[in-house]
Amino acid sequence: MSDIKRIGIITSGGDCGGLNAVISGAARIAYHLGIESCLIPHGYAGLYNLSNITPVVIDFARADKIHSGVAGSEAGHSRVKISKINNVHKYEIIKEGLKKHNIDGLIIAGGDDTGGVVVDLIEHGIKCIHVPKTMDLDLQSYSVGGDSTINRIAKFTDELRTTGITHSRALVIEVFGRYSGHTAFRGGLGADADCILIPEIHVDYDIVYDHFKQTYVNRLMSSDVKGSTYIIVAAEGVKNSKGEFFADASDNLDSFGHKKLSGVGKYIRQHLEDRMKKDSYWELILKREGIYVDDIYQHPEIREIQLGHLVRAGATSAYDVTFGKQIGGGAVLAMHKGIWGVTIVGVEAEEIIYIPTQEAIKQRNVELKEIAFYEAMGVCFGREPVQYKPTFRQHVGEIHRYM
Ligand code: F6P
Repeated sequence: MSDIKRIGIITSGGDCGGLNAVISGAARIAYHLGIESCLIPHGYAGLYNLSNITPVVIDFARADKIHSGVAGSEAGHSRVKISKINNVHKYEIIKEGLKKHNIDGLIIAGGDDTGGVVVDLIEHGIKCIHVPKTMDLDLQSYSVGGDSTINRIAKFTDELRTTGITHSRALVIEVFGRYSGHTAFRGGLGADADCILIPEIHVDYDIVYDHFKQTYVNRLMSSDVKGSTYIIVAAEGVKNSKGEFFADASDNLDSFGHKKLSGVGKYIRQHLEDRMKKDSYWELILKREGIYVDDIYQHPEIREIQLGHLVRAGATSAYDVTFGKQIGGGAVLAMHKGIWGVTIVGVEAEEIIYIPTQEAIKQRNVELKEIAFYEAMGVCFGREPVQYKPTFRQHVGEIHRYM
């Protein structure tokens, strides 16, 4: 057993559901082991300034005030990469801060950028342990926040369908997802979206248009009140057929150095509208169905909606609360055992499962072979559907359970 007496908890990167569960799980297990835990506010900015701030002690009474089911983080966040700080003494400054407050080790919750800093800190002799957190779900293991985000995308998308169908509008729902589209994919499926566009598939807008036209018109013709809609869920990082971000993508970088993306929904809408305006079929079909109005209603409307930070906010799913508690509490147990420099990926019965952080933060994309499965169900992914070719095997060993 190690002789740690006091630990610091940091949450970093984009906030999401489950972070408070991580804090609560870590603080409660620490309390159980007789270790004092404290929050270092504002992520790595707080860590760098530790000598000048007072970490917040999370004793049992304070832990009791943390609501695991509320998204965001009690600790506050920043997007600061320690290696980018322009001060040659930065690691020594951090060590002095930790020493000043008698902090023996750190639990750091975050995604690939945050995990990269964990690796960097370890290389500079600062003891830490990583817990996986990103709503983007693009780490090697499950990351807290993913399930809550998927549920929120599915819920908002499903709810938006009522306004879509009432106005017979097609809706383009833009969600976060810069390099990988896990949450657009799962959230879109969860809401029965007609089309899901993700960064992993370079979009052919002619294919999207044809699918939209066919689906929309079929729905219109089978409706006794001539109502229709078409729902697209698109990740912000969707690329065109040349593999480029959409033309208006901003050149601004966030403090982790990523291009700030916003507006792909508008870009997709314009692509569809351009094609629709040139297509005389709409006049024919809308006239035949008794909806056409000269100069005013000559083709259906398309609206884009940015869900933005709504998908990271609000309520946390029970799955994320449970998983957050597992990895937060598991991290403390691992530290107590003297295990550092790893990522906690779960708790199974009496086992705390971990992998090297270096491995955990390697980017994981949506499995394209799985996409073909949903293409066989008629969902459009902005490409020519690929035939799904299943193989079959009998499972050997333990069956993966829900939790
Ligand atoms: O890192 C997660 C993420 O949600 C990305 O998908 C998104 O691009 C980014 O955060 C936006 O974060 P913010 O606007 O809060 O900096």
